[in-house]
Parts: sequence; structure tokens; C-alpha cells
Amino acid sequence: MEKINIIGAGLAGLSAAVTLAKGGRHCRLISLQPSERAQSVLAEGGINAALDVMGEGDKPEYHFEDTMRGGVYLADEEAVRRLTAGAPDTVRWLAELGVPFNMKEGRLIQRNFGGQKKKRTAYAKSSTGKMIMSALIDEARKYEVRGLIERFAHHSFLGCDIAEGVCRGAVVCDRYTGEQTAFAGRVIMCCGGLAGLFPRMTTGTTQNSGYAAARLFEQGVRFGNLEMLQYHPTTIGIPDKRCLVTEAARGEGGRLYIERGGEKWYFMEEKYPELKNLMPRDVVAREMYMVRRQEDCGGTVYLDMTGLSNEVWEKRLPDLRAEIRHYLAIDPADEPVPVKEGIHYFMGGIYTDVFHRTNIEGLYAAGECTCQYHGANRLGGNSMLGAVFGGKTAAEDILETTEREGEISLKEKLTENEPAEAVKVKLGEILYSGLGIVRSEKGLKEALDRLDTLEREAGVFPRTRLGRAMLESALARKESRGAHYREDFPEKDEALCKPTMAVCQNGSISVSIGETQL
Ligand code: FUM
Repeated sequence: MEKINIIGAGLAGLSAAVTLAKGGRHCRLISLQPSERAQSVLAEGGINAALDVMGEGDKPEYHFEDTMRGGVYLADEEAVRRLTAGAPDTVRWLAELGVPFNMKEGRLIQRNFGGQKKKRTAYAKSSTGKMIMSALIDEARKYEVRGLIERFAHHSFLGCDIAEGVCRGAVVCDRYTGEQTAFAGRVIMCCGGLAGLFPRMTTGTTQNSGYAAARLFEQGVRFGNLEMLQYHPTTIGIPDKRCLVTEAARGEGGRLYIERGGEKWYFMEEKYPELKNLMPRDVVAREMYMVRRQEDCGGTVYLDMTGLSNEVWEKRLPDLRAEIRHYLAIDPADEPVPVKEGIHYFMGGIYTDVFHRTNIEGLYAAGECTCQYHGANRLGGNSMLGAVFGGKTAAEDILETTEREGEISLKEKLTENEPAEAVKVKLGEILYSGLGIVRSEKGLKEALDRLDTLEREAGVFPRTRLGRAMLESALARKESRGAHYREDFPEKDEALCKPTMAVCQNGSISVSIGETQL
């Protein structure tokens, strides 16, 4: 009997596991941390679906258009069509599982989120990720007791067993005993984004190391659009990381301003009269960066939420208020909050087709580790959707095939090839210096030179290779599109509306643009 190996137990992993188990297939849910500590629990604002419960005439077609426009047409059109068409059923399924979405008079309600012309984001106060995860964890337990899902928490991923372009299984290590095991069976990677390559600089969990993705890259798995990093406009600094101030704060009426000549300048409202503070994240983050650099501005951007009603704070954003009070000792209901752009999401990742198959047969990927849904900029609320829908899609593809035979064995003990903490931090600084909100050939080449030096001094590691591919991808995209803004190529180039593709073969990295074959 084949058991499917799912690496990662967040939203995408749980969704894949539950779908497989419901279809009668066995799987192993393998993760560094238990589901309760997955990054997915940090997601705050909501999940998008054109349910049209707000009487605005919303349709999946409009959701598709907003997603494509928000991603500046770099996303995989067919994949986005499927995602947005499947979104209403996805959210209805989650509601049936018991996610306590905010309701009014017995009906689910939705709120505004950035880059979207309709109220399309379903939410559970300001802890939507935690609530969806709780429901999926509970659902998975039903199948765990029947042996269809086996949990392997506290296990790290050491690599796939790949021979002649076919993935035959995964090698994992029990973090408590040190025992390594080679598990036969197809693999679905749900290992999350690349926050671990930027220690202390992202809103992601500090528990994400990025190693699983980096190791796969080294093993020949193709990655797309690695230059596309999302800076969330509103984050605050807390020990060891950035903390998200959910976009829902602006969806509920929060306003960005900067002091200019002693006056509050609501720059987003002046510059973008239609969507105002709810322009797509790449635009808001870039505007914040630019206005901060203007000489006559005070240098700090504030999020003013003082106009929000008590009802909004109590029923829609209670955790956000508690978080800001806790970390900044500011009550956002009374005082504006100083905010700054922070790395929040990776649109780039493992390249897959619409069924979530990678270039390696038998290897699938879903969730933030993939790249097909969000193009050059992800819309808020599409991340949890992409994860739940993606995990389900990968699992459904497997359900349509017969089980695979075959055993694998551990030929030799593998080691996690990671550098010392100080090298990880240095690499993060180098990547950040090249891959900021504003980029240039000069900055990217300087970052690559510094990376050469780091590798000469400290050695070459999976994460330094993946980092190099990110810088090379940004260098290859000689245009500005979405989150990738090049001051030396400030315009979009329609001839470059194609993914960058990075591949590593025998340690040598190549980056191309426009190759879309798996
Ligand atoms: O701002 C937020 O609540 C983030 C949501 C998202 O990234 O989808």
C-alpha cells in the first residue's frame, strides 16, 4: 500500500491529508512542528471567495480579474481560473467544518481587502488562520484514529529520493531521537515560504528554516519567480521578527498618513482616489517607502485606526488591538500606530502545473512554497485560499491515479547541510540588501559579490544556492512588475510578462525567463 508523504502540516498539508484520507488513501503528515505551531496560525485577515453575500453582484470571474491584475498578469492564468472558481466551495467547506466566520443574522459576511473591488474576504475576527487551522486539525483527527493519516511531528525533511527524474520517497529525521527514515511513496511538499532565508526580517514564523525548499532546489526541482517577495505595508518590529498589522485594519477604515509640514498627509487617499489605502500591497509598500524618503516628510508612516468604532474593535479586530497593546503599549483605538513595510510572503517558489505537479514525477507542491497563483504580487486573502485549494488539488490528482508500488531504503545517513547561525544572518542581510522594495543592477551585483565572499569563507549550502537564485532571478527581470521594482528599469516590459525559472544542476545554477515547460 502506498502512503503519500506530505511534508508540512499547515493549511496546505492538512488540506491535502484530509482530501487523501477522505478518498480512502493513506498518508503521512510529516512536519518540523505540530500543526498548532505552523505558520498558518499566524494568518489574520481572511480568505477570499466570490460568495456574493454582500449584495454587490460578486462573481468568481471578478475575483479572477482582480487576482490577475493584482499579480500584474504574471500568475498562471489557468491555475488562477481554477482557484477563483473553486474558492466559494472551499470557503463553504471550511464553514461546514465549523470555522467561526463572522456572521450577521445567520449569514456569513465578508470585508474589504486590498486590490479588490468587492467585499470578498471571509474572516473570523482577526484570527482567521488560527480558526481554519483548528477546524482542519480536528477534521484530520477523524482520519488519524482510523489510521489513514499518520502524524510525524518533530521530523525534519532531509531530501527526496529522486532517481532518473522520479521521486520515490522522502528522507526524514526524528528531531528527538536523531533516527533517519526513508519513506517510500509520492511526496507533496507543503513546506511554506522562504522566511527562513531572512532571519528576523519577516512576519513569518521563526520556526521556518527554508531548508526543505532549498534542499529541493539543490536536488533539481525547478523554481519560478524567485525575485517576487511581498513586502506587507503594515508591520511592526517585535523581538526576533516583524509582526503583521492585518490589512483588515485598512479594510475596516484604517488610514495611512505621514507628517508633512506639520500636517497629516493621507498620501494614499490623495494619490489613489479609487482604492485609496487598499491599493494592492506592492503599490502601498512602495508608496510608503517613497514618501518616507521625501525630505519634508517626518520619516515615519502611521496607521490611523482611531476612527474605528467599538463594534469593529470588538467584533472584527479584537486580537489586533490586543497585539498592538501588548507589543507597543499603544491602544490603536486612541493613538496612531507607527508602521513599516516588512517581508510577508513569497510569491515565487516551486514551479508546478495546475495540478500541482513539479518537474519531478511523483513530487507535488502546494501552499506558499509554490508560485503559480500570485504572480508579481499576491492579494491579501488569497494566501489561505491558495494553500487550502492547492493541497486539495494535489491530493485529488493523486486520488485519480493508482497506488504506486516500491520500497526504498536509507543508503547512507544524511546531514542537514546548514551553516552556523551567524552565516544565516549574514546571508539574510545580503539578500535583503539586493532584494529590497527598490532594486537595481548595481545593488544586485553587489549582493552577488558579497554572496561569493560569504560562500568562499563559510562554504556553499542549499540556502546560499537558493539565495543566489533569488538574486539572479531579480537580475534577469529587467523591468518593473508588481513587487519587483527596478529603478534602472522602472517600466513594465510586456515582452517579459513571463515567469523566471531557476534550476540547479550539479551545483550550477541557471536562470531563464519565459520557459514554462515543467
Ligand atoms: O494582512 C493580512 O491579514 C494578511 C493577509 C494575507 O496575507 O493574506
